Amino acid sequence: MDLEKLLSDRLAPAFATVAGGPVDPLVRRSPRADFQSDGALALARRLGRPPRDIAAAVLTHAVLDDIGVSAEVSGPGFVNLTLADRALADLVAGLAGDARLGVPSTATPQTVVVDYSGPNVAKEMHVGHLRSTVIGDAAVRLLTWLGHRVVRVNHLGDWGTPFGMLIEHLVDLGEAEAAQNLSMGDLDTFYRAARAKFDADEAFQERSRLRVVALQGGDERTRRLWRLLVTQSERYFLTVYDLLDVGLSADDFRGESAYNDLLPRVVDDLDRLGLLLPSGGADCVFPPGFTGRDGEPLPLIVRKSDGGYGYPATDLAALRQRVGELGATRLLYVVGLPQRQHFAMVFAVAEAAGWLRPPVRAEHLGFGSILGADGRMLRSRAGESVKLVGLLEEAVVRATDLARSRNPELDAAAADAIGRAVGIGAIKYADLSVDRTKDYVLDWERMLALDGNTAPYLQYAYARIRSVLRRAGTAARPDAPIVFAQPAERALAVELLGFAGVVGEVERSLELHQLAGYLHRLATAFNAFYERCPVLSASDELRESRLLLAELTARTLRQGLDLLGIRTLERM
Ligand code: ARG
Repeated sequence: MDLEKLLSDRLAPAFATVAGGPVDPLVRRSPRADFQSDGALALARRLGRPPRDIAAAVLTHAVLDDIGVSAEVSGPGFVNLTLADRALADLVAGLAGDARLGVPSTATPQTVVVDYSGPNVAKEMHVGHLRSTVIGDAAVRLLTWLGHRVVRVNHLGDWGTPFGMLIEHLVDLGEAEAAQNLSMGDLDTFYRAARAKFDADEAFQERSRLRVVALQGGDERTRRLWRLLVTQSERYFLTVYDLLDVGLSADDFRGESAYNDLLPRVVDDLDRLGLLLPSGGADCVFPPGFTGRDGEPLPLIVRKSDGGYGYPATDLAALRQRVGELGATRLLYVVGLPQRQHFAMVFAVAEAAGWLRPPVRAEHLGFGSILGADGRMLRSRAGESVKLVGLLEEAVVRATDLARSRNPELDAAAADAIGRAVGIGAIKYADLSVDRTKDYVLDWERMLALDGNTAPYLQYAYARIRSVLRRAGTAARPDAPIVFAQPAERALAVELLGFAGVVGEVERSLELHQLAGYLHRLATAFNAFYERCPVLSASDELRESRLLLAELTARTLRQGLDLLGIRTLERM
């Protein structure tokens, strides 16, 4: 039950009559009533009429009584909408029997490919990969819950010229030793050692070059060594996913190398379509609308001057495969904003080539950086990029310590379970609760705080409700009538009914911070309710109503947090 949509559907025909064509009634939550419609204000200029007149005219046509809604014109021309208590109570009671809490499965299931995480072989995952993994996981969960067919793709960086030097370094180290280092997660040391040799040693450079040729030519021993690098790195990444508690598995890796055989055709087809132009020895496409600082058209390089294919060609092949073979109609790329232009150009070229056309849509879900306390890019003390696992382990340790200090009686197993759920939850929530295009500061104190817009605040609200329900001794009766004795009960009911609208909006926008913000409002409304409305000591009818409101809140918090990939705890 999406209340905003219900009101919008009721007002739309009235607006259409007044305006002589379709109009969005622009319904939203209101500080003065339950909801308000801003449609009349938006229309005033077009109709050349005062907005209050338009609003009044709309109200003469709108049918709202039967759903218990009263409406009045207010301020410069808003329409304020208020639900009768009875109507609101019935709507909220209706959620109790619905396992989906008012959120329908989609009527139009799509095949959605979510491209996320995408670390690089023999390189440590950095915080950018953390953001991609956390945001991608939440998108996958939400879209799956809504009934879409979701394909997870982990576009592993497993190909390209650096593999010459990496394989040679592996040969120098000895396979056993190298495999050991990599699977232990010592990826950066390995990579840096290879790089240092490459920069200092000409003979090593020459060997590396020959090795790239052997790799591309399919030399058997070289391929085996390359596989070793890839599998050891994959094994390590899987331990990170496990710690991070995300659903990426071994089956989801689809490395850049998987598209190698498709690359020549991509270039041939672009050539046949007349899109390919030589530029500086390379083969390029110049998609319309992209110019550099100097005003010159920007090339997307699909075949480099040495004849090799790079990152852009691979993404073109991957896009084609996702549409053609996987049958995707929605393509999501959860990759940092520095790659914005790359994706814009890849999409433009794919459109020009006819590989990407409606109803298929490609969206780059770009995100900002994680900053340190000094407001600069997060760095370790030595000035290196921060190792992701270290960050996750620190979160768990901090959360475990906090749990112990708050409750010294906790046994070790319970403290560990809480530390893990809260620590990892806090990391994820800090990421998902801000507009993803913005940078944010990693602030341990704030993200682990029990108050504020944090995971622990929401997890604590959930645990608190579960404790009330346990103490009640009986489950909330799903058919208990809802009564409003206090404004706080009514306010909580309005929030509970907002879940469907938010989830529907996030399905379209994938602005996960809207869902986080909603859950925070819901928990805050619950806490206000809980302060003013005794549950267990209330008399029969009120007690049953309050228990049901509490139970609905717990279910909504749990479902909402689950969509974000955050665990709830029965006790904390
Ligand atoms: N491996 C890339 C990186 O670390 C991310 C891959 C993103 N996905 C893609 N289809 N290009 O930057």
